[in-house]
Amino acid sequence: MAAKANIDLLPEFTPPLPTKEDLDYVDLVNLDLSKFDDPAGREELKNTLYKAATGYGFLTLSNHGISDDTYLRQMRISNAMMTLSPEKKAPYEVTPEEDARGLYVGYKPAGPLGHKGGFPKQLDHYNILVHDPKSRPHPEIMRPFLEETYEVMHHIRTKILMKLLRLTANILEVPEGVLLSTHNPGGSKTEYIRYMMCEPRSQEESDRYRDIFLSGHTDWGSWTFLFRSQCRFRWVRHQPHSLIVNFGEAMERLTGGLFKATIHRVVQPPVDQRHIRRIGVIYSSALPMRGHWFQ
Ligand SMILES: [Fe+2]
Repeated sequence: MAAKANIDLLPEFTPPLPTKEDLDYVDLVNLDLSKFDDPAGREELKNTLYKAATGYGFLTLSNHGISDDTYLRQMRISNAMMTLSPEKKAPYEVTPEEDARGLYVGYKPAGPLGHKGGFPKQLDHYNILVHDPKSRPHPEIMRPFLEETYEVMHHIRTKILMKLLRLTANILEVPEGVLLSTHNPGGSKTEYIRYMMCEPRSQEESDRYRDIFLSGHTDWGSWTFLFRSQCRFRWVRHQPHSLIVNFGEAMERLTGGLFKATIHRVVQPPVDQRHIRRIGVIYSSALPMRGHWFQ
């Protein structure tokens, strides 16, 4: 592993404490990935993944190999990237041509553009693609931290995603290679890490848009790995040291509908966090191309 850049180059950032409110939390099941290499443990993980995929829509991962230090560094990088001034972000925004080609790269600001149901999207994000990531320039503040960010993406692909794919193959009773080949390195042009920010809204705005920051949808990739819980249709509890995972449309298609894509949305935070700017990091895994696999 390469030496890491000095994190103090970036503004300080401490993730907010979890809410103290008693919310309607969704039940989550946990996959302890340290059990993966033990045959009995693998069987247990297989059953748990099946339960999550067919009943819950969300699961948590523990012993995933992303240290608290790495988590905090990624959150700090996300905060630094997302709080740059609009002028500094502008040269790195996704272009209309890239957008039309389905390339999910660069900044995509919040704005009046409707998201699915027509609600404005109160969420800014910045994407870094796994494939050929050096082909597109990144803001200066990001450059010293690119290499470690690629390492995080590589870790998720090789140490987490591959395990989920092998468990899925075990559930479907097909050779593991069949599932692994769907996520061959370099195949996907749309697999990325995403830094995100939700700015607090005024009460008036929130009333107008029924507290919805990002309207209900399913992700179209295979899985989305969240470094931090977000607000969904039911609340997902903050899970210290864990990644939260939801299922995307690609897994629903790939499993013939056995796995269900998770419908979720982003809404107004609980009262004790309403004034806080929310910073997040997700990793979205994907199959090579929508058209190639799913005609
Ligand atoms: Fe989503």
